[in-house]
Amino acid sequence: VAAEYDSSRGGQARATAAARDLAAHLSGGELLELGVGTGIVAEALQREVAQLHRFAGVDISARMLHLARPRLPGGLLRTSADRLPLPDRQFDGVVAVHVLHLVTDLEATLAEAFRVLRPGGRMVALHGEPRHDQDDDLRRATRGLRALRPRSQDSAAAVRAVAQATGFDCLEQHDASPRIARHSPADLADLIARRSWSFLWSLDDQLWQRHVQPVIAALLALPEQDRPRVQSEWATVTVLQRPTEPGRS
Ligand SMILES: C[S@@+](CC[C@H](N)C(=O)[O-])C[C@H]1O[C@@H](n2cnc3c(N)ncnc32)[C@H](O)[C@@H]1O
Repeated sequence: VAAEYDSSRGGQARATAAARDLAAHLSGGELLELGVGTGIVAEALQREVAQLHRFAGVDISARMLHLARPRLPGGLLRTSADRLPLPDRQFDGVVAVHVLHLVTDLEATLAEAFRVLRPGGRMVALHGEPRHDQDDDLRRATRGLRALRPRSQDSAAAVRAVAQATGFDCLEQHDASPRIARHSPADLADLIARRSWSFLWSLDDQLWQRHVQPVIAALLALPEQDRPRVQSEWATVTVLQRPTEPGRS
């Protein structure tokens, strides 16, 4: 999905809003983004975070990193967030935006973030299945997809529990700024048909025919095929801190 990621997920408006949500809890220094993707949020963070000295990003996808390179020259590394080839206590902040639902090992990912943070450093994550404000014809037509979504490992409660077990203090959890989604029925049917979301990637033909094909048909039967429906969605912002160590600087 690298090539269409930015345009299909809210573009610059989404990235700027996410960066502002994160920057409100960060105080510069050296930052690391886990799952940096196309670098669209990283680019906005470099504008929004004051006194930033260095910004590094990691991602598991070569295609995403290829798109991120012009936005974050020099600071990118291809690796999994649960195995960071980086020294201990190097960063003042670690950020993760819509990544915690994808990592195969959430415990190891948060443990790695903890390890590379300096004591007193913060991890700020934007995560969780978004909450919606309204039930329109698009949401009704796509209801059949909900059964296919895996149980969310990145709910507010799950992330808080894993983070605290890792040793983090959970300073705050709150709604992120709304993301404004604009999809027409035709555009959404096309994105679903091309498996643009990760929960669709590994479905076999039988599940596809039973659950996904009827949703695509329902979307294509809606009136005003090319009129975008506007929906607001709220994910969660979680602010974690590696505790300071009394007696150590
Ligand atoms: C939904 S995208 C979000 C990208 C970016 N944070 C943003 O908001 O624009 C998730 C990203 O996480 C990356 N990713 C998935 N699993 C990962 C892992 N285990 N380690 C590092 N990156 C991972 C994907 O390749 C993808 O670029």
